[in-house]
Amino acid sequence: MNAKITATGAYLPEKIMTNFDLEKMVDTSDEWIKQRTGIEIRHIADKETTAELAAKAALDILKNSRLSASDIELIIIATVTPEHPLPATALFVQEKIGAYNAFGFDINAACSGFTYSLSVANAYIRSGMVKNALVIGAETLSKIVDWQDRSTCVIFGDGAAGVLLEAVDDDSVGVLDMVLHSDGRYTDLMIVPAPGSRYPCSEEVIKNRDIYIKMKGNETFKMAIRSIAGVSQEVLDRVGLNFGDVDWMVSHQANRRIIEGVAKRVGLDMNKVIITIDRHANTAAASIPLALDWAYKSGKIKEGDIVLLNSFGASLTWSAGVIRW
Ligand code: UT7
Repeated sequence: MNAKITATGAYLPEKIMTNFDLEKMVDTSDEWIKQRTGIEIRHIADKETTAELAAKAALDILKNSRLSASDIELIIIATVTPEHPLPATALFVQEKIGAYNAFGFDINAACSGFTYSLSVANAYIRSGMVKNALVIGAETLSKIVDWQDRSTCVIFGDGAAGVLLEAVDDDSVGVLDMVLHSDGRYTDLMIVPAPGSRYPCSEEVIKNRDIYIKMKGNETFKMAIRSIAGVSQEVLDRVGLNFGDVDWMVSHQANRRIIEGVAKRVGLDMNKVIITIDRHANTAAASIPLALDWAYKSGKIKEGDIVLLNSFGASLTWSAGVIRW
């Protein structure tokens, strides 16, 4: 059995924050943000929670599929901004969409969360344990961003999107292979220090602003292009394809310059690269499925296309997958 993406779906919160809005909050400019990141706007969930965004994305996926909520067997939510420390956000999504025949859990692999989750769902389907899975990346990063830190607050956004993965009796289609990496020597590059078992909730962690994202952006940037290009080559080698066979590259949308750097390094024309960072910003685990959903619904990705997914995130995780759509 292979696992094939049979539907996509997405949800973005209504509120939009522009670079000009940010100019009024921190010492930054529209020009700096556009030039250094490619971002023009981001969506902000000021009223909705992560599970609410994820549930709306799940309903959109189901609307675009031939299944109903009661048919779903597995729900995986990739997130670094869960509804609560416990229980898993997947259970709140299960309740909101009424998928009571499923089991669910969350995966935290930062910006690689969607690809990590896709690999898990793929393995469950290939093993025969389930016939289908909802795999959703959902984030409300605006709630863990330090709105006083211009080096991080300008790059993140909120949103949710995902796919329905279904078993198909055809090993030439669907997820052909995936490669995942992590390196725990770099956990300080991007971290939300508290609250957790090391730094439980206290007045001090709040005063130190340790409840917000801290990122060494430039050091992260320097490692990203080489890592993404390398893991993409690895997964293509495993399935006997090369970059010339790729119809679409859908990357984690962290920075337009990173994506362009990867395309240049591997010799891929930018007209085969999906870019959504201008209007979504960096939505961590939601960024790849948001880009996939847009590329599929706008008619770019078509049946039979070879789609290369790749990601890079805290701290550090990186991964790639090859899909025959
Ligand atoms: O999502 C997965 C993990 N994260 C990433 O992959 C993020 C990767 N990193 C990046 O995308 C980039 O490093 C950033 C967009 C975060 C920063 O861009 P950069 O070109 O690496 O800037 P920098 O940190 O080297 O800073 C350059 C200058 C500094 O000023 P000086 O020291 O040269 O005077 C910063 O203080 O830009 C300044 N700066 C800003 N200026 C205006 C930093 N943030 C801002 C800002 N507006 N928002």
